[in-house]
Amino acid sequence: MRIGDILFDSPFLLAPLAGVSDSPFRRLAREQGAAGVVTEMVSSDGLVRGQPATLEYLRFEPVERPIGVQLFGADPGVMADATRALCALPSAERPDWIDVNMGCPVRKVVNRRAGAALLNDLPLLSEIVRRMTQVSTLPVTAKTRLGWDGGSSNVVEVARALEGAGAQAVAIHARTRAEKFGGEAHWELIGEAKRAVGIPVIGNGDVRTPEDAVRMLETTGCDGVMLGRAAFGDPWIFRRVRAFWERGELLPLPTAAERLGAGLRHLRLLVEWSGPAAATREMRKHVAWYVKGLPHSSRVREQVNHTRTVDELATLLRAYLEELASGEPEGFAEPAPSAVPADDPAFPEAPHAAR
Ligand SMILES: Cc1cc2nc3c(=O)[nH]c(=O)nc-3n(C[C@H](O)[C@H](O)[C@H](O)COP(=O)(O)O)c2cc1C
Repeated sequence: MRIGDILFDSPFLLAPLAGVSDSPFRRLAREQGAAGVVTEMVSSDGLVRGQPATLEYLRFEPVERPIGVQLFGADPGVMADATRALCALPSAERPDWIDVNMGCPVRKVVNRRAGAALLNDLPLLSEIVRRMTQVSTLPVTAKTRLGWDGGSSNVVEVARALEGAGAQAVAIHARTRAEKFGGEAHWELIGEAKRAVGIPVIGNGDVRTPEDAVRMLETTGCDGVMLGRAAFGDPWIFRRVRAFWERGELLPLPTAAERLGAGLRHLRLLVEWSGPAAATREMRKHVAWYVKGLPHSSRVREQVNHTRTVDELATLLRAYLEELASGEPEGFAEPAPSAVPADDPAFPEAPHAAR
């Protein structure tokens, strides 16, 4: 897949995930074969005002490339200024492309006419992308949903409007705003959008296994596939998806030892990236995902919420690893079930909306 001059070495990208897809998470995904990654959504207002908390979301490591920064906002002038600011960054800090959030369903975002609310206002949506592409030296893309609700599904018109305004690719989460994360994603509409435009279309929604990823490519004709929740506690999903896509091989799921080893490494990366206090806090949810499905994991999930320091957290993970290795040889050797929290979509109620 190609977006502008960016050539991806496979069609499988990590989706933007507010509160989750920070630099350590993105690095783990890239190491395991994600062809590209996107930041958490970043406020265009905060960026233009130079707010330190917002600028923090723009930091990344070279190994994460190709990387897109996802902006959200509804003011075409501010979105253009934010685009200019990103393009003017020194090359080492400049992302490879800029994505616009047109799918966030949370109230704090849609009340400001941003996120999924843009799907109700195609003139504004077009104006935003046009103003951005006019000033951008980087490819501009957008990530949308199918529409606002079942009665106003307009993804084909949205994709055409984006293409007309100069967007170089569109990613489609195959649900409406009203559906949030419920029910099943409607992949067939990704196919309809693909047939309506010439720019690359990236499908997204409910890809949980290598078979799902290849089926999405084959049944919709889309150019790329974005994986979100399937990567929670399971960066290896990208390796498995690639192996299946490249040679039809179904790789084994990671063992408990691999999961806990990755958890310890993830913790180390987070400490280096954001310091011990934030790392301890952030790591709790990741631990819950890494241990999901392992013996006595509910006890570990409970314990991790009471850890106050990095040392306590690392000690807990090491003790659990030893316990599994010595006491429960079968549980230790068995691959862990997939960590995809199908019943636990957990879109955070806009902790990121103020960025
Ligand atoms: C915790 C969480 C945070 C998310 N944050 C964003 C975001 O910042 N920007 C965005 O475009 N989509 C966001 N999404 C939506 C995902 O990128 C993706 O479209 C959705 O999870 C469906 O894909 P999946 O079934 O592979 O998870 C988020 C989803 C979740 C679960």
